[in-house]
Amino acid sequence: MEPTGQRVQRMFSSIAHRYDLLNHLLSLGIDRSWRRKAVAGLPAVRSGFYLDVATGAADVALEISRRLPEAGRIVGIDFSFPMLRRGKEKVARSGRGNFIRLLYGDALHLPFADSVFDGITIAFGLRNLTDPLRGVQEMARVLKPGGRLAILEFATPSRSWLRSLYLFYFLRLLPWVGGCISGNPQAYRYLPESVLHFPEREALGGLFKEAGLEYVTYRNLTGGIAVLYSGSKPGDQQ
Ligand SMILES: C[S@@+](CC[C@H](N)C(=O)[O-])C[C@H]1O[C@@H](n2cnc3c(N)ncnc32)[C@H](O)[C@@H]1O
Repeated sequence: MEPTGQRVQRMFSSIAHRYDLLNHLLSLGIDRSWRRKAVAGLPAVRSGFYLDVATGAADVALEISRRLPEAGRIVGIDFSFPMLRRGKEKVARSGRGNFIRLLYGDALHLPFADSVFDGITIAFGLRNLTDPLRGVQEMARVLKPGGRLAILEFATPSRSWLRSLYLFYFLRLLPWVGGCISGNPQAYRYLPESVLHFPEREALGGLFKEAGLEYVTYRNLTGGIAVLYSGSKPGDQQ
């Protein structure tokens, strides 16, 4: 099933009220450690400027502000107002509102000048873009030379026993639980379908290289259920 921008926007807006609960429930809370690992790979720059694309309910933006307390500013961008509203509530509760700004915007047309961010993250968002290569190119464009891009995305485990177990969970159980709790069964059928059709590991790493990034690496998390990709923009960190 190909994502179309408006369909994806409507889908996330419709599940925003249950998004966090389902995220933590369906991943048994492991998603928190994945986000921590993604942020741990960003360069720590004093008074740096960080961007979290497809920020949703702002978990990664909040993690950046916790992990990199010396970070100057963090911007989260998303094109779903209901998701951003949840994020803004969480940022306000965290007391980090002076450091984090959440903005409405499209990942495929980032409203920033070239080469402004020290580190950029996108967690479980790339797969939802109608043009993932363009998304990576946009993030590469706004990254400073020497800055690092970290992408978290779901994948399927490579070990066959784990893969079979996981696919049973992912294709049968998760859509049912997700559908019941969110009230949008379609959204939780879309999740496994989109993951199974999305490039993973070397293939996704290829997009980084096509976008001109270097030192591209990927690392399996939790047996390969999620993968952390990263790459740097050529040039020296200033
Ligand atoms: C699965 S959620 C991930 C949210 C968050 N990053 C996290 O780790 O929980 C995907 C998010 O991507 C956003 N999104 C999808 N396509 C987008 C686009 N073209 N521009 C901006 N946001 C987009 C959706 O609105 C949604 O909030």
